[in-house]
Amino acid sequence: MLERLESLRTGALERVAAATDAAGLRAVEKEYLGKEGGVAEILGAIPGLPVEERRDAGRGANELKVELLEAIAARKAALEGELVAELRDAGGFDPTMPPAAPERGSLHPITQVRREVEGIFTSMGYEILDGPEVELDYYNFQALNIPLDHPSREAQDTFYCDEDHTLVMRTQTSPVQIRAMERMTPPFRMIVPGRVFRNEEQDATHEHTFHQVEGLVVGENIQVGHLTWTLRRFLNELFGRELEVRLRPGYFPFVEPGFELDVRCPFCEEGCRVCSKTTWIEFCGCGMVHPHVLAAGFEGREDVDPGALTGFAFGFGLDRLVMMRFGIDDIRNLMGGDLRFLEQFPC
Ligand code: PHE
Repeated sequence: MLERLESLRTGALERVAAATDAAGLRAVEKEYLGKEGGVAEILGAIPGLPVEERRDAGRGANELKVELLEAIAARKAALEGELVAELRDAGGFDPTMPPAAPERGSLHPITQVRREVEGIFTSMGYEILDGPEVELDYYNFQALNIPLDHPSREAQDTFYCDEDHTLVMRTQTSPVQIRAMERMTPPFRMIVPGRVFRNEEQDATHEHTFHQVEGLVVGENIQVGHLTWTLRRFLNELFGRELEVRLRPGYFPFVEPGFELDVRCPFCEEGCRVCSKTTWIEFCGCGMVHPHVLAAGFEGREDVDPGALTGFAFGFGLDRLVMMRFGIDDIRNLMGGDLRFLEQFPC
């Protein structure tokens, strides 16, 4: 029996050494180590052997099995090495080189800053709302107390979508104030980040397509102090430091009183390029929601008495914040779609 084992071993090792590919090795493995292979045959014959021979035969068969598996693995590795060397030398191609990394996109800088803004407001209990970009004149102008002769309605500023001017590309995110009042129950706080459109001459600071973030809070006893606290808190979070804000009178038909809110320039002490040497940055339009707007938004709501409510609203440009954050000096880069620009803002 031990002789059988020895001849099996010699034959198997020869076959392993002679194999030239993985398939050949699999055939050898099957022939010797498979269910009906040579080693199995010996193991099967052991019960018929004289008792004193059984132990050695069993051990021998098992040792042969281990030895063969190792020999097959070693031969396999050697063959693979040869194949790699052959491919490399044949075509100037190195199969051991790591593959090219898949191209990975990144979030648009506007998306990055928008998400940051959303994070700050949601942490203050605000909901995030959305509204249509093609909007009814009713929401974009009428319900917002914007009179028919208001300059922003003129065709030079507004892209109209139909002959009789009932559909417009929204010129501001403020129409979502009305849409929110129609379906939400006060008290509520919400922001609306979104795209807006104006028919403007393009230059480094003007684009026909840009982004605003609207804010609206409606409840009982909401006052100007809530407005300034909220915006200051937001700006402090965004710029990571305490910043002063100031209000100047501002006219927007849908707020009364209306303000322009400025923030101390976060980049300088004495005036710089970002703040045009004034140390103040115009940040947004805002004010207390005009009673006409509350009346229009809650019209027909039996569960809401607009006369008992007040609110504040604000609207700021997101593109400006993005430009300040990343030091971009021409707004036209943002929507230009040039990958050489966008690749500079990985995230
Ligand atoms: N919608 C105004 C604009 O586009 C900004 C604004 C929003 C002003 C809310 C007051 C209140 O300029």
